[in-house]
Amino acid sequence: MSPTASLPNTSRTILETARHLLYNQALVYFQGKPIGTLAAIPQKVRHYSNGKVTVSIPGEDLNYTEVFIRDNVPSMLYFLVDDRPEIVRNFLDICLSLQSQQPQTAGIFPTSFHVSPTKLTADYGQRAIGRVVSVDATLWWLILAQVYCEWTQDWEWAGQERVQQGLKQFLRLILHPGFREAPTLHVPDGAFMIDRPLDVWGAPLEIQVLLYGALLSTTHLILQGRGPDIQADEQQQVAQSLDLAIRLRRYLLKHYWLNSRIVQILRRRPTDLYGDQIVNEYNIRTETIPHWLQTWLGDQGGYLIGNVRTGRLDFRFFTLGNCLAAIFDLLPRPQQKALFHLIARNREELFAEMPLRICHPPLDDEDWRNKTGFDPKNKVWCYHNAGHWPCLFWFLVIAILRQESPTDELAADSYAYHRLLKDGYETLLARLPEQQWAEYFDGPTGVWIGQEARAYQTWTITSLLLSEHLLIRQPTDKHIMNLPSLGSLIRQQRQL
Ligand code: GLC
Repeated sequence: MSPTASLPNTSRTILETARHLLYNQALVYFQGKPIGTLAAIPQKVRHYSNGKVTVSIPGEDLNYTEVFIRDNVPSMLYFLVDDRPEIVRNFLDICLSLQSQQPQTAGIFPTSFHVSPTKLTADYGQRAIGRVVSVDATLWWLILAQVYCEWTQDWEWAGQERVQQGLKQFLRLILHPGFREAPTLHVPDGAFMIDRPLDVWGAPLEIQVLLYGALLSTTHLILQGRGPDIQADEQQQVAQSLDLAIRLRRYLLKHYWLNSRIVQILRRRPTDLYGDQIVNEYNIRTETIPHWLQTWLGDQGGYLIGNVRTGRLDFRFFTLGNCLAAIFDLLPRPQQKALFHLIARNREELFAEMPLRICHPPLDDEDWRNKTGFDPKNKVWCYHNAGHWPCLFWFLVIAILRQESPTDELAADSYAYHRLLKDGYETLLARLPEQQWAEYFDGPTGVWIGQEARAYQTWTITSLLLSEHLLIRQPTDKHIMNLPSLGSLIRQQRQL
């Protein structure tokens, strides 16, 4: 029976179209093997002028026909649940072969790579618009490797020397001395999915959460891959990474977690304190705490703020970093509950006509001018600046579904959350095929196709497929992104 056979006719046709696009148009081959998906499926556009017809491919000059590591996360998860693990293994192997060996960047993975019949050309940022570097691609590779091994139980793959060397190189990159004591990873502007200036430099949430996930993944891959043959230097790296993961989690919960009670404490703190035992470490002044938080948080909502920097907290809500913090259990259960409560409470903002908004609120006027450098793509309510991205929806689906169990305290709310997710899914189903699987949507409700959005964007297509798979077809696969817990890793390490 085809995987879509039991569905009503229209949804079946849409899902079959989506699968067709993914397998027959987005998937690319290198030396005869399927190895990953293009960011967007190129579309020919005909132009008529003075009786002549010319054909062009919008965006051909950009990099949408490359294989991006971050865009491949949903593709790879879908291949796993669709019983095509060999594609994921090929993808991991290809990316590993592109891990930088240059002294300046040793250990990093490329943002994307171009595939020609004979050659792979990686982009580490040296060709990117604005020369932005992406840090998330490297962190994602580690997480995907762990998810692949856990799903397939192919620990032999993890045990290979070249994989272990890749893990070691990554840890060398992370576990080096620096000038700061804080456990967060400092990055330049635009170092993740938001890859243009949007005042997300320093310690943006998404990077910190991915780092946490990557540290858990890497230590597990070393412990499982090496087994009893683990070397002393590897044991030391494992111990150091676990220590970093513990400190990072503690730090994020202390400095990034926000709810109404915490806002009230922050608003009454003294400033300009010096010394070890002070209550306002980052010297935040009350005037920087925005009033929109009052209705946004309500009395039960909570979330991790976007960034912590001296004198300035970034109170913007970033959807992906928050969903991942739930998925990786960086947030304890009660905080996850408060997060889902906040998302449901602000549904009009975050879902609106196209789930989900990438961040909230947008940078306005002067902030837009100064902080994005007048970026026309990132105008208010557009693109990364509070635009709506359907590719984010399945992350929320996993974050909520993986929590549900009859004994869980979330169970009481689970009907309402399920409704929320189903409604979101119905929106994707109704709008995406009609709007050519657009990359993103603009405006405060996300009703307009993004001004510069690509059509047939692969992670838009896979978001629909994954959401359907998890909500309808095979809800038991909701644990696919579960990472080994910090506690279990510490126990495993102590037994060495
Ligand atoms: C844009 C997005 C980035 C994505 C890339 C390919 O640059 O900002 O997040 O990875 O397109 O789809």
